[in-house]
Formats: sequence, structure tokens, C-alpha cells
Amino acid sequence: MNQSSSQPPWWQNAIGYQIYPKSFYDSNQDGVGDIQGIIEKIPYIKSLGVNFVWLSPFFASPNVDNGYDVSNYEQIDPQYGKLADVFEMITKFHDKGIKVVFDLVINHTSDQHHWFEEAKKSQNNPYHDFYIWKKPVAGKAPNNWQSLFGGSAWEYNPQTDEYYYHLFAKQQPDLNWENPRVHQAVSEIIDWWASHGVDGFRLDAISHLKKLQTFADVDQPDEAMNDVAGIDDFLQELSDDFKPDHLMTVGEAGGVPVSRAQQWVDEQHGYFNMIFQFDHVSFWEKFTVGQVDVAQLRAALTRWQNGWQITAGTPYSLKIMIFPEPSPTLATILITVKKSAQALGMMYLLMKGTPFVYQGQELGMTNVSFDHIDQFRDLDSKHFYQEKLAAGWPVAKIMTSLRAKSRDNARTPMQWSTSKFAGFSHTQPWIEVNSNYPEINVADQQPSPQSTLNFYRQLIDLRLTDETLLSGQYHLIDTHDHQLYVYTREANNSGYLVVTNLSDQPAEFQVPDQFKLTNLVLSNDPAAALDSLIALKPWAANLYMYMYERKNS
Ligand code: GLC
Repeated sequence: MNQSSSQPPWWQNAIGYQIYPKSFYDSNQDGVGDIQGIIEKIPYIKSLGVNFVWLSPFFASPNVDNGYDVSNYEQIDPQYGKLADVFEMITKFHDKGIKVVFDLVINHTSDQHHWFEEAKKSQNNPYHDFYIWKKPVAGKAPNNWQSLFGGSAWEYNPQTDEYYYHLFAKQQPDLNWENPRVHQAVSEIIDWWASHGVDGFRLDAISHLKKLQTFADVDQPDEAMNDVAGIDDFLQELSDDFKPDHLMTVGEAGGVPVSRAQQWVDEQHGYFNMIFQFDHVSFWEKFTVGQVDVAQLRAALTRWQNGWQITAGTPYSLKIMIFPEPSPTLATILITVKKSAQALGMMYLLMKGTPFVYQGQELGMTNVSFDHIDQFRDLDSKHFYQEKLAAGWPVAKIMTSLRAKSRDNARTPMQWSTSKFAGFSHTQPWIEVNSNYPEINVADQQPSPQSTLNFYRQLIDLRLTDETLLSGQYHLIDTHDHQLYVYTREANNSGYLVVTNLSDQPAEFQVPDQFKLTNLVLSNDPAAALDSLIALKPWAANLYMYMYERKNS
């Protein structure tokens, strides 16, 4: 595992593939994806050219929040297989030169974790202080803090006559990081997985570890738990756990502004190797009415591309695209027409930073379009439905909102083939397959040179093999419009010009005089050519090489 100091760490020139185990591939035909299913598909993952995988949680869990409620960090949920399967999977990925990153959910546990089962028994229990407790105030919750999944963040525990804090569901009590024993217990879990060959962790909800210690009412829910002053001590201690084993870390950093990037991801002293940032996410809300505000998207992503400059690689990652995890709004970025996956993919994969591709993104899998609440599985979506129903919203309006924002939209089974259930399983899956699988699936796209799948393979190959795309400067060409995202990656007065049309309308781009285009490297438009006035079809993605000519020379 040791790497010589002259070698950049492996993750600096790498592309990750996120696997949602429950929906990837079902090897034992029970309708639920599993670890052996992932093992069977390693050759496919290898064929994409990615160098590491990040698996969403598969640990022992009552699955109130699809595994983000862990009841035992060193056991696996039996629906996914056995611990031995996990060890076999790690070995088999390593045999193919693919690193393995797990999801570490340590802001909270399940209420069925034995720590919590002990903690709630009495105030004298040795585990009581593993969680956050407050006495009722006037017979009610101690303050106005809200859960991210709706309603109060406090739940009453009659055994101790106290409330406990839960940022997410009430079955996900938050750990009390003010207690050093919590850190100690988490360190042991990290060491245990490291000793079994894991190469890194994605740290779930990590910007919420610190809570506002006044426990007073807040004006904005974020003030209680987002990057709260004092979190740095916890993060510093935590980051020391990963270093001896050279574990790669990516923090889920919701609410962390670019001005804090240095503390979080500085190459020498940062807490993590990379973070997922979410500045661009709310802009996508407009996607719910069929619009992406491309101007705001450009501004947000550029802020991060420029805000944290380093020359070789970038220690943070921008994560966008089809993504079921952090927030319902992210899932709305889903690709509505197959072609948009290509334009979004080029725009995103060729930026600075370590890119992650979410399973199915490489096919242009789209948001599912469920008609009825019974088709949804996500607790957050179900809460939302009940809450809005109680508030008097018409069902049609709630469903429109869920179709745009539910995390389930991107959790449907991977579309492997045109067989029944998309080749994911022989039996009815835990969540319905998207009905468009006959048009969007791996089997059809494999042999077709024009497919989204093969477009992604080309992008991944380029991104991993080209020095300018790894370490060149990012420069936005501001088109002042609402369709185009155009930027360069440049080193020594030459580089790549990335021209994408992120809209379903045609557009034009006039190449600035200083850029002499020398080569059209990749395009999803067979008619694309080396023109200085570039005509772009809807969702066009063109990649050029250029020489930069100074005007006066
Ligand atoms: C993160 C995850 C999300 C999960 C939550 C609670 O935001 O991305 O899926 O529900 O944390 O663990």
C-alpha cells in the first residue's frame, strides 16, 4: 500500500464508478441486487475503464433509509450475501486493478444498533452519551430544530424522559461526537475494514457531525448542523485515522462553501482527499419544469473549479449527474433524453477533479416516471407525500413533484438487456424497472460505436490518459446564454476546447479568434466539423484540440 513520495496518490488520476448494490445485479433471483451479482459484473465495470468503485451501504441494517441506517458496521445485510462474499469481491476487484471504496455512515446509526439499544435504557448506561439527549422543555421537544426528512429532529424516549436528536429519520439517531469514545469506536471500524483490504471511504453526511452547542432555536435549519464552528476538531481527529493506511477519503460536504475548501481538502493539511460539493444542486430544481439554468450551473461549477487551484490533479471532486444519494434535487438531474447523458458526461468528466459515474449514467438511464405512491420505496418520498396530502395538496401535484425529485427516480434496477426485468433479475425486483429498458440497456449499446456507453468509454479513456485533462488549467468561456457550457483545459498555450449544448434547442458557438482549432477529437454529432462558427444540435457535445494564438504575435 505504501507509495513513494514522488508518485501522486492513485486517486488523483482516477475515475470512480458508484454502485447501488440493491439495484445493480441480482445473482440469486430474489429481486434484490447482491454482492455476488457485483462480482459477476466486474468484467463489465473493468470494460468501462474506471479505476475504483464506491459502493453504497450494504451493512447490517433494518433498511429504514436503504442501508444508511447501520445496525452493525462489521456485518453485512443478509439480503446482499455474506461477509465472505464481500472479502471475495474486494479481492476480485483488486485482481483487476480496481480499488474499492465503501460508504461510511457515522453521523448516525440505526436505532437498532446495539449502542443505541443500550443508550436508550438509562442515563447511567455506558452508551448513553454515544447519542444526543435533551430534557423536554415545557413537555415538548427542546428546540425548533428540523429533520432533513421533515418534522422535528427530536424524538421522545420514555425510558429516560429525554428527547434524542435525529437529523434524518427518527430511526437514525445522531452520534454524539462530543464524546471521545464515539471517535474511538468509529476508529476501530475503520481499522477493521482497512485490515480487510478496503482502499477508502466516502464519508456520509460528514459536514453535520458537529451540532450547535447552545441547542437554542435557530432561524435557518442549517445553523444547527451544517459545518458548525468547532467541527474542524472532529474532522482533524478523524482524518488522522485514515492516513496510516493511506485510505482515500471523500467527504459528503453539503453546505460547505468554497471559502472552506482549503481546510477541508488542502493536499497537505486538509481533512479529506476530496469532497462532494453541492453548490450547483439547487439550480437543478428548475429542471422540474423542464429547464436547467445553465448560466447558474456554469457559475457554480466554475466557482469550485477556480476556487481551489492546484497544479497536479485536484483534491476535490465535483459530483453531479444521475445520483440517488444526497438529496432529492440531485436525482432530478436525470437525463431526460438519451443524448443529454453524452453532453452532461463530456461537460463533467473533462473538468478538473476526480469524476464519479453513477451506475447507469453511462447508458443514459433516465428518471423513472411512477404514477402511484405505492410504486415508491424511499421513506423521504413517502414522508413528503403524507406531509403534502395533509397540507391539502392535490395528489396530482404531489406526484409531479415526486416524479421530479424523488431519490427513487434513480434507484431503479440497472438495465442490462431487453429480457424481462431488464436482465437485472428473473423475478419482480424490489422496485420497478424503468419501462424504457427495451430502448436503453447495456446489451444493445455494447456493439454500437455511437452508443452512449461507448461515448463514455472514450471520455473515460481520454480523461485518464491525457496529461492536459489531468492537470491543465480550467478556463470558462462565458457565453452569457442559457444553453451552452464551454470551457478549456489548457497547458502551454494549447489544450482542449469543450463545447456542450445543455439544452434541447439548437445553438451556435463562435470560437474566439485566439483559438486555432487543430482537431475534432470527439463528438456525438456525426456532422460535426472543424468550423469556427460551430452549429450545435440539441445536447451536442464536441471536443476540440486547439493552439492558443496571441493576437499581436
Ligand atoms: C446522505 C446520503 C443519503 C442518506 C443520508 C442519511 O445524505 O447521501 O442517501 O439518506 O445521508 O444517511
